Amino acid sequence: STKYIKKEYILDNQTFAIIKPDAVKNKDTGLILDRILKADFHVLAGKLLHMSQEQAEGFYDIHKGKPFYDELIQFMSSGQCMVLALEKENAVEEWRNTIGATNPDEALEGTIRKDFATSVGLNAVHGSDSNENAQKEIAFFFSDGELRGN
Ligand code: CMP
Repeated sequence: STKYIKKEYILDNQTFAIIKPDAVKNKDTGLILDRILKADFHVLAGKLLHMSQEQAEGFYDIHKGKPFYDELIQFMSSGQCMVLALEKENAVEEWRNTIGATNPDEALEGTIRKDFATSVGLNAVHGSDSNENAQKEIAFFFSDGELRGN
């Protein structure tokens, strides 16, 4: 079917990550990058940036209207973060397992959020929740040229 063909063309070996402003401010960028590399992710592309409020709103459009939306936009545009396009087999699930639950109180031992997050809002890292969103999120921050440079 058409649906099957379309699915075949969505990459399942890439995901999108953000080292959020809380983690960058706390000087955890290097430690988190080390976790990423030790977990055998290949960094396709990465950069430090300070999101504008408009960029944060565009990126988190799916959360518009939720009770935590304003707080989320304010926080994500409050300082520098590092955006990363990551590659690994089964990347979305692998990265979600590496970072742990959104709420650090529920994150398992050894996960990034268990070790670096402060609260459900200040939770150190972001990870895509599906292959489709991973491609959208990578394209939101990286040009084809930036992704080809490896
Ligand atoms: P993230 O994976 O970046 O995707 C959406 C973000 O919204 C999530 O991580 C949290 O940081 C944030 N978020 C989710 N629920 C809440 C909440 N109840 N209060 C504050 N922030 C939240």
